[in-house]
Amino acid sequence: MKYLIKCPNCQKELVLEENFFGRFRLVISHNKQCPHCKVKLFRHYSSNYYVLYLIVLLAILFFLYFMSIFIKMPTIFWLLFIIAAVLGLYLFFIHYCQGNFYRDSTIVWRFKKVNREQKEVKKVPGFIYDIPTKVYFGPDQLDNLAAEIKKYGHKVLLCYGGGSIKRNGLYDRVCLLLSNHDIPYAEVANIEPNPHVESVRRGRDVARRENCDLVLAVGGGSVIDCAKFIAAAYYWDKDPWDISLGKAEVVSCLPIITILTLAATGSEMNATGVITNEENHQKIGASYPLMFPKVSFLDPTLTYSVNKYQTSCGSADIFFHVLEVYFNPRESMFLLDSMMEGIMKTVVKYSKIALAKPDDYEARANLMWSSSWAINGLIKEYQTHRWSAHAMEHPLSAYYDLTHGLGLAIIVPKWLQYALRQENCERYCAFGHNVFDLPYEDDRMAMAHKALDALKKYLYEELELNRSFTECGIDDTYFVKMANDACKGKAIDGFVPLNIDDVVEIYKLCL
Ligand code: NZQ
Ligand code: ZN
Repeated sequence: MKYLIKCPNCQKELVLEENFFGRFRLVISHNKQCPHCKVKLFRHYSSNYYVLYLIVLLAILFFLYFMSIFIKMPTIFWLLFIIAAVLGLYLFFIHYCQGNFYRDSTIVWRFKKVNREQKEVKKVPGFIYDIPTKVYFGPDQLDNLAAEIKKYGHKVLLCYGGGSIKRNGLYDRVCLLLSNHDIPYAEVANIEPNPHVESVRRGRDVARRENCDLVLAVGGGSVIDCAKFIAAAYYWDKDPWDISLGKAEVVSCLPIITILTLAATGSEMNATGVITNEENHQKIGASYPLMFPKVSFLDPTLTYSVNKYQTSCGSADIFFHVLEVYFNPRESMFLLDSMMEGIMKTVVKYSKIALAKPDDYEARANLMWSSSWAINGLIKEYQTHRWSAHAMEHPLSAYYDLTHGLGLAIIVPKWLQYALRQENCERYCAFGHNVFDLPYEDDRMAMAHKALDALKKYLYEELELNRSFTECGIDDTYFVKMANDACKGKAIDGFVPLNIDDVVEIYKLCL
C-alpha cells in the first residue's frame, strides 16, 4: 500500500510504502526518514484504528462470555484470554493517549524531533566561556601598541589591504609607532577583500624569510582573517589551504595583534578566518583556538573613512551574526535573547546614523563594539545548529567575489521566508516586536510576515542594499554547485533543515 503524505517538518510530499504486516504493528512505531529534509518521522496508527480495535476486542469478549454459558471452556483458555485483553487495553490506552500527533487523513504522524528538542532544552546544556582577546577600545589607545607588541614578539609582520590605511593616514601612524620603539617589521600588502589563499602563501613566505615572530593585522575582516591564517601557516609545512580544510593540526601559531578599521566580521575578537581558494571557487571558514588575537585595538574614529556601501554591508553582517543564532531551533536563555535583541536594535539604530554622519563617534563606537560581541562566542552558547545564511552566502562570494554583507542581505529575508511555518512563527514575532518595535497581533502568521517586511525595509530602503541577485548580475548558472558547497555533502542542520534542493530553491527566490 502506498500513501502520499506531507512531511510535517518541511511540508514536502513524500511517498510511504507499507506492507501488509506493517499495518498491524501496533506497538513498535515504524521509523522513516523524510527524503527531503532527512528528519525522522515516527508512524503511529490513527486513533480510529484503536477505537476499532477496542470495539472488536470488547465484541469478542462479550461473545466468549456468552458462549461460556453454554460450553465449558478450559481454565488455560481463560488465562490466555485475560492476558490478551489486558495487553490489548494497555496498547489502546498508551497509544490513544499520546499527544503530538501529526494527522494526515488515514494515518497519523508524530514529529518526534519536536519532542527531542524539548527534552534537550530541559537537560540544560553547559558551555565554556573563554574569550582570551584583550581589547583596547577608544581613540588614542594605539599608544599602547608598542608595549603590547613587545610582550609577544620582536619582529612584526605588518599585514594590510588595498590601500585604505595609506589614504587615511593610519599606515604612517603605525609605522612611526613601530620605528619610534625600535620594532623592526616586514610587510604584506594588498590583501584582497574575500582574501585568497594565495595571499596566505605569500604572507607565510615573507614571515619565514624575514624571521617575523608576530603578526600585526591592520584592516577589516579580510586582512585580519588572512593574518590569522598566515600566523597558523607559519608552522605548517604543507599547503595553507589544508588549514581551511581542517587537515592541518594547528598546535602552534604566531601571536596575532589587530587594529580594526571596519566594524563587521568580529574577526578582531574570535578565532575564525574565512579564506577563498580561487582555483576551485571554495570559500571556507575555519576556527582554531590559537587564532584568537592576543590583543585588538578598537578605535571607532578609524572607521570614519569607511564609505556608505561598506558601512551598510558591515552593519548587515553584524546584524546577521546575531540573527543566525537568534533563529535557532533550540530555545535560548532569556538573558542571551535580550542581548541578541539589544545588539540587533543597536545596529539598526546606529547604522542609520553612521550613514547620515560618517564621523559620528557614538554611532561608530556602537557599531564597532556590536561587531565584536555579535560573534565572539558569548551569545551562541545555546546554539547547537549550523548557520544557514552564512553557509549559503560563502559559495556566492567564492563564485562572484560579492561583498559578504551584501550577499547575506539578499539571502536572509528569502531564507527566513522559506523557513517560516506555523510552529516557528513565534520566533519571528518576538524578532519583529523586540527588534523593530512591531505591536503583537493575534494573527501570528500575519505578524511574522510584517517582521520580515520590517527587515526588508531596513536592508533595502535604509541601508540601500541590493535586494536581488539579478541586481548584482548573478544568474542561476552555478546554483547547483553553490548549493552543493553550502551543504557540504549533507543537509544544513539549521533553523530548519535545508538540503541541496532547498538551497537551490532559496537561491532562485533571490533572483
Ligand atoms: O583593502 P582596503 O584598502 O583596506 O579596503 C577595504 C576593503 O576594500 C575597505 N576598508 C576597510 N577599512 C576601511 C576601508 N575603507 C576605508 N576606511 C577604512 N577604515 O573596506 C573594504 C572591505 O574590507 P573587508 O576587510 O573585506 O570587509 P569585512 O570586514 O566585511 O571582511 C569581510 C571578510 O570577512 C569574512 C567575510 O567572508 C569576508 O571574507 N568573514 C569573517 C568572519 C570571521 N572572521 O569571523 C565572519 C564573517 O561572517 C565573514 O564570513
Ligand atoms: Zn558574516
